[in-house]
Amino acid sequence: MAGQRYLHLNLVGNEINNHQGALAYERDHGGGPDRQNAYLPISEMGKAAEEGYFTAMFLGDIAGTAGSPAPDGGPPEPITAFAALARETSYLGLIATASCSFYDPYNLARLLASIDQISDGRAGFNAVTSVSDEWAQNYSMEAHLDRITRYKRADEFLDIVTALWEKREVRIDADQIKRFYSEQINHRGDFFQVLGPLNVAPSPQGRPLIAQAGGSGPGIAVAAKHAEMVFTNATTRQQAADYRAELDAALVARGRAAGSVPAIPGLVPYLGKTRAEAEELMRALDENVPYELYAPFALVQFGLDFTFDSIDDPFPLDQIPHPETVKDTIKSTYGNYLGLYNWIAENPGATVRDVTAQSLARGGAQHRKFVGSYDEFVDDLALWHADGQIGGFNLMFPTNVIGVRDFVAEVVPRLIDRGIYRGKPDTRPLRERFAGE
Ligand SMILES: Cc1cc2nc3c(=O)[nH]c(=O)nc-3n(C[C@H](O)[C@H](O)[C@H](O)COP(=O)(O)O)c2cc1C
Repeated sequence: MAGQRYLHLNLVGNEINNHQGALAYERDHGGGPDRQNAYLPISEMGKAAEEGYFTAMFLGDIAGTAGSPAPDGGPPEPITAFAALARETSYLGLIATASCSFYDPYNLARLLASIDQISDGRAGFNAVTSVSDEWAQNYSMEAHLDRITRYKRADEFLDIVTALWEKREVRIDADQIKRFYSEQINHRGDFFQVLGPLNVAPSPQGRPLIAQAGGSGPGIAVAAKHAEMVFTNATTRQQAADYRAELDAALVARGRAAGSVPAIPGLVPYLGKTRAEAEELMRALDENVPYELYAPFALVQFGLDFTFDSIDDPFPLDQIPHPETVKDTIKSTYGNYLGLYNWIAENPGATVRDVTAQSLARGGAQHRKFVGSYDEFVDDLALWHADGQIGGFNLMFPTNVIGVRDFVAEVVPRLIDRGIYRGKPDTRPLRERFAGE
């Protein structure tokens, strides 16, 4: 990490990561295109991110939904959205999440290689394993696989897509014509049989970047073998340092260099010219959220199943298991659990309402929330940058298009002045941007 000069900023473009009161707020503040075409906000955000020299846009993937009727939210599938955004932008990286639990590797290798080709080498694959039984039931499974099996499948899955992508080459023939050759991989494993070759030509970066999100022991082991960047949920600088140490140990055990894979935590910024203005933004958004209805959801998503009399009662931290005791067994996302646990421990007296706000209502799931002025925010980012434990941030704005535009206008110039952010587009192929940091 020591050699890295600039922060990477990635924009997380999923509406689900906005504040839960954002739609009403945007309606009242003239922001946001018609949601019926949910690609339009992605397009506007992507173009704004490119103006702000972001390294990449990140789209999480919700591979199903639960209940019937299911709550609203119908974003386009990430790879499909990026096929359009690739032609509306010139250098923004396009990192699509897709689940190794639900796809077949040949299908996905082909789709992602196609985005890589369409974008001239800007595609990335955020390889996740997902957590939901309801989603799994859309993919011919009775229930989701247990964590160990999920990650074994993901490991084999990534072996296959990497082999398919890497067994391709470009040759210039005697007539000066570019021709593409690819080879069979003859894979026969525990989960998949894939002959190959892949039928999509390589992009200028050879193959898509592989990113990973999943912070349990088996998740880190898969990241250490395959990932070129990881999406984490450090809510404190200490947690970022602890994660860095754990990832580095796993990388070294795999024969890779410590620090060679940047860890990029999520971050939700509430900003204004002054701190009071930022607090007012949060208050105005909070006003749109029926907290009593949200509390049970917020707790269940962490596997926290207990009753409470009043939403303003203190949150009973002593009733939930310490993260270390559930690290490899919890069904939900370990990093979310850890982040939320740490947050509650660091905020004594936090009520059920506060925990609901932190974990669900205020956007970005359990990721760190920052509330303050533009200048305070730049100071905060500079501190994290100076620690050298993170490669940058995956930003999730409480409001959608409005938040990104405000950030690009107000914060980006301040970061450039501070010397911790590039003042021009990074035009290298995506994989090179994250390499060796
Ligand atoms: C920051 C972060 C983002 C994630 N994004 C997605 C996603 O978009 N879609 C998905 O199906 N799973 C997503 N996951 C879930 C992981 O792939 C994994 O299934 C889950 O975190 C449980 O494994 P773990 O305990 O090792 O983290 C995400 C996890 C993390 C930590």
